[in-house]
Amino acid sequence: MPINDDIDCNNSSNVHFQDVLTQALKDPSRRNMLRGGMGLAAMFALPMLPGCGGLTTPTLSELPSSSLLGFNAVTKSILDQVLVPAGYSVKVLHATGDRLTSNVTQFSGQGLETDDWNERIGDHHDGMDIFYIDANGRYSTKATARAVLAVNHESSADSHFLHPKGQTSGGVNGKKFSQFGDWDTKARPGLEVLKEINLHGISVAEISLDASGKPTGYITDSALNRRITPQTVVDVQGPAAHLSSIRSMFVTRFDTSGATARGTLNNCGHGLTPWGTYLGCEENWAAYWNMPAGAALPEAKIIASRKRYGVSSVALSSTATTGSGQGWYTPTDMDDTDFRFSRWNVAAVGASAAADFRQEPQTFGYILEVDPLNPTARPAKRTALGRFAHEAAVCGIPVVGKPLAFYMGCDSRNEYIYKFVSAANWDAADIGGGMAAGNKYLNEGKLYVAKFSSTGAGEWVELNISNPLITSYAGAAGFTFTNQAEIYVHTRLAADAVGATKMDRPEWGAVNPANGEIYFALTNNSAANRTPATADGANPRSYNDADGKKGSGNPNGHIIRFKEQDNSSTALGFKWDIYVFGAEEDMPANVNLSKLTANNSFSSPDGLWFSKSTGICWIQTDDGAFTDETNCMLLASVPGSVGDGGEFYVDNELTAGTSTSKGVTKTFIGGVLGESRLRRFLVAPKGAEVTGLTETADGKTLFVNIQHPGENTPAWGTSAALTVESTWPGNGGGMSAAYGPLGRPRSATLVITKNDGGKIGL
Ligand code: FEO
Ligand code: CA
Ligand code: CA
Ligand code: CA
Repeated sequence: MPINDDIDCNNSSNVHFQDVLTQALKDPSRRNMLRGGMGLAAMFALPMLPGCGGLTTPTLSELPSSSLLGFNAVTKSILDQVLVPAGYSVKVLHATGDRLTSNVTQFSGQGLETDDWNERIGDHHDGMDIFYIDANGRYSTKATARAVLAVNHESSADSHFLHPKGQTSGGVNGKKFSQFGDWDTKARPGLEVLKEINLHGISVAEISLDASGKPTGYITDSALNRRITPQTVVDVQGPAAHLSSIRSMFVTRFDTSGATARGTLNNCGHGLTPWGTYLGCEENWAAYWNMPAGAALPEAKIIASRKRYGVSSVALSSTATTGSGQGWYTPTDMDDTDFRFSRWNVAAVGASAAADFRQEPQTFGYILEVDPLNPTARPAKRTALGRFAHEAAVCGIPVVGKPLAFYMGCDSRNEYIYKFVSAANWDAADIGGGMAAGNKYLNEGKLYVAKFSSTGAGEWVELNISNPLITSYAGAAGFTFTNQAEIYVHTRLAADAVGATKMDRPEWGAVNPANGEIYFALTNNSAANRTPATADGANPRSYNDADGKKGSGNPNGHIIRFKEQDNSSTALGFKWDIYVFGAEEDMPANVNLSKLTANNSFSSPDGLWFSKSTGICWIQTDDGAFTDETNCMLLASVPGSVGDGGEFYVDNELTAGTSTSKGVTKTFIGGVLGESRLRRFLVAPKGAEVTGLTETADGKTLFVNIQHPGENTPAWGTSAALTVESTWPGNGGGMSAAYGPLGRPRSATLVITKNDGGKIGL
């Protein structure tokens, strides 16, 4: 479970479309207007008109069956092993703590490492991509004999495994960071903190390929191996007309010009640019800071923005910021070289922003571009793509001579979906162009946020200071927009101002290479945030989990997809439907809307990724709602297209405490997938989520990231023995051989191949 992503910091009063819809549903003539009057329902097949209050069971359109998927579904599992279909093999490519250079010791599995994590594979493997290398050492879109794998390392939520006896300070020995409450009075050991800092970031490792192009391992000591950590110096880039103002908001004691910042944090999903660079997305960066009790507060505007982003600042608890940070500012037993500890204290301890780190949280929350084939190229924060809890950044199908579009989710409850459209038109000659190409496409452009209408239409609203809704915005006490630069740094507030649609936690996006349609996983939402009264067309379910009682609201999540008008990257309108709803197979029909069975039931879709080789849409889960019956999983699906289902009315009922609320929500559902088009391919070890995916160019090897096995391991202290929930991959579960020492669990990249040498999933 990623840290801090279930916090709702969105207190904006943006209209829920349910308000409009409820009125419409009470009025049959208006209901007909909604169905036909917007000119959009006609694009969908066979709209239905159920009676309100007396709903009959609607008929969902069935898609023609597909024979594409060529494996037998794996069963649900709560075993501590990887399960894949018969005929497939699994091994580990690399795992938490593996050596990138032989300068450092073999990983101990006992927390015995020193401050050497900048030479090891990081922890919490997440988004990833493969980069083939041409004869000139540049990116190749086709298979070659050499490649690197870039991997995000999201979180330190399990860093207790990486110290000999858990985290030893804070007086709550062994508990996870969010449970510490008194770091403002106790110093943490410097070595623990440095390990925790440097296990974050991005790793780049050269992989070895055999003559057939099949990966055989990774190459220790390759000159291309690289770590980017929270301590790596990066450039601050953005639109030229606003760059000096943007950089003024990056000014800290480390760089009083704001032209550079340090590092990256909580890299979750990723992006791949058409020119062959890697986008590491900064998601739950807000959870890493502290304010000592009694410290001087920064300016009201900074505080207002911190509240909207949920920046952890203990001393501000009375003003509603949240969390307790990680105590990384506290060590006194090691030098504060380059402010490596003090930068995590965001109090206004100096005379100005140039004399302290009050603005340090404003240096995170961006898309970080990295050239994985040039170890000396400095990464860049691409501020034009906005600042929020960036989950992933996926590029639409590039068209020569047209702008590029990048689609991005902000993963917290009730946050938004965004689009960046480049000012520059795509030129395929830029493939292999590295950071210079990034400067061309990712600095200048327009930033939009999505509004989803219950008519099945949607619109992109540009976040521009010329919009009076932004300049007149007064939704956050102490905050007003005065220039465009502030929109890039305080993006969530600008999106509030224009009335963006609150979504059920946007996780990864993915683009169907066959038709350019864009998919987004909406992983789940809570009962407090998604009730029958606040459900809307794009987030239409509100219900209780009656079986196992693992949540309510929208506990199982769904996947929305949309088609840009004229398939254009610059479109200002789109139409949408819901590809699939997560559910347990034994949930009632008004919850299990996609008619899932025991072979394809799932909950909390998080990762999404299309194979360019097979066209399969892969769905990864990070779940806490179905885990009484199964660990997290990976499913293969065969997509149809937007509009292949139809208009549908969801019959909602939610009981919270002693009150029960009901409602009917109109939405649009894609055609029923069925077991022939949606099938469970892999189940993860205990406590793990399934995250990043990529493949070799021939589609015959799938790389799959397994993050945080053993996540539910209880805290242990000096007097308690460590009892781990999982010992994978040291136990070898589901693989032909164990990987690494048996004992503590480790995140890892899997290499999955088909025993007959064929393409994965077919
Ligand atoms: Fe890092 Fe939203 O998952
Ligand atoms: Ca359940
Ligand atoms: Ca069940
Ligand atoms: Ca995620």
